[in-house]
Amino acid sequence: MNERAAGVPGTPAWTREQAERVERTDEVVAPIIYPRREDDVPDVHGWDTWVLRERDGSIASVDGWRVIFSLTAPSDMLPGKRHDVAEIRYFYSRDGKNWIDGGPVFDRETCLGSRQWAGSALLDDGQVYVFYTAAGRAVEEELSYHQRLAVGAGGSIRADDDGLAIDGPWEHEILLRPDGERYEREEQYRGMIYTFRDPWFFEDPATGETWLLFEANTPVPEGSDACGGDPEKQEFNGSIGIARSPTGDPTDWVLEDPLLDAVCVNQELERPHVVPRDGRYYLFFSSHDHTFAPGLEGFDGLYGFVADSLRGEYRPLNGSGLVVANPANAPYQAYSWLAFPHGEELLVSGFFNYYDLGPLTIDDVGHLPREEQLAKFGGTLTPTLRLTIEGDRTRIVDSLEHGHVPLEDEELPPLDTDRVGDRTAAGRYRRRF
Ligand code: FRU
Repeated sequence: MNERAAGVPGTPAWTREQAERVERTDEVVAPIIYPRREDDVPDVHGWDTWVLRERDGSIASVDGWRVIFSLTAPSDMLPGKRHDVAEIRYFYSRDGKNWIDGGPVFDRETCLGSRQWAGSALLDDGQVYVFYTAAGRAVEEELSYHQRLAVGAGGSIRADDDGLAIDGPWEHEILLRPDGERYEREEQYRGMIYTFRDPWFFEDPATGETWLLFEANTPVPEGSDACGGDPEKQEFNGSIGIARSPTGDPTDWVLEDPLLDAVCVNQELERPHVVPRDGRYYLFFSSHDHTFAPGLEGFDGLYGFVADSLRGEYRPLNGSGLVVANPANAPYQAYSWLAFPHGEELLVSGFFNYYDLGPLTIDDVGHLPREEQLAKFGGTLTPTLRLTIEGDRTRIVDSLEHGHVPLEDEELPPLDTDRVGDRTAAGRYRRRF
């Protein structure tokens, strides 16, 4: 029987067979993360973060400043409630380590949705485009999980030695809605969390074509014979969607068939993004332990695939797709990872979530006293992980400071081979944590 039998024929798949190989190995387990300093209490809760980039994907440097955008919420708010009020702020830095809060990017009154979820940001011809998820409707009595891909276009950016400012007026526009055939609409969804979100801009260096990736779900109608007809497994229908801009205009998109799907495997392939390298396409996304289909065990972490062209055939990295996993004794310490290239290395920055939970699960956190929920929440960026990447294999070998986003030409501390360990015959490093 066809395992999948749903979705768009020909779409590369993350199969159950591959996902069954997901395992915590030396290559993929991140070090334990603690706050940078004990008194390091951020002014706002921050989570999903992305970097202002040029069209070619390089990190933008504006008069020596670089810029990141984060979803944020007031720091006295229960961390579990933050998604309901998320607001995009920007932060700027000269050294890529210490970030100054520039404030909210948009005016709450004019941006789309009742709150804004993750996206990406492009600096093109002096104009700033902030792609985001319009979550909910501007006016709604009850919080909804309606999601559309949106952009704030036309932002200006000014910088001098004292700082940097990003200003409107922004032109807000809904760019894409699901079509119900390749991408599930809200009324079709049968799973745990509906998704059509997290737009990520990408220009293919080989073809010059302009793309927008996003997280979605593949429609799997009731009674379908997908997943051997198992209705429970059918609820796990995550996909990575893609749209093309026929003109290169960052506000002009046409939906295309998905890049990858995970029907019968996983429900949420979050914040997908591509790192082109040596003529290959490395496709990354984040996922969670609880979004794997029954019979599969996975972890909160970064997952990745590689292909020789943007459209696949995609092979899972490290055999299973797992690239970064939280350690077994801190399974919820981080997620929402973003991978970016640095010379031969791959750097991966994530969101520092709950730590010091002991045996508690993520579901227990909401029952803890308020002060404890706040005390155990990172609410900021993780240390940046350094990975080697060779063909279909990756390996975590070191880490940088919390929130460090180096420019491509910035020299990083040498990987200390004594501490890292000898290079083996296979030319890989031993992990130093
Ligand atoms: C991942 C995520 C994103 C979404 C955001 C909402 O961390 O679920 O997919 O845009 O959080 O807060």
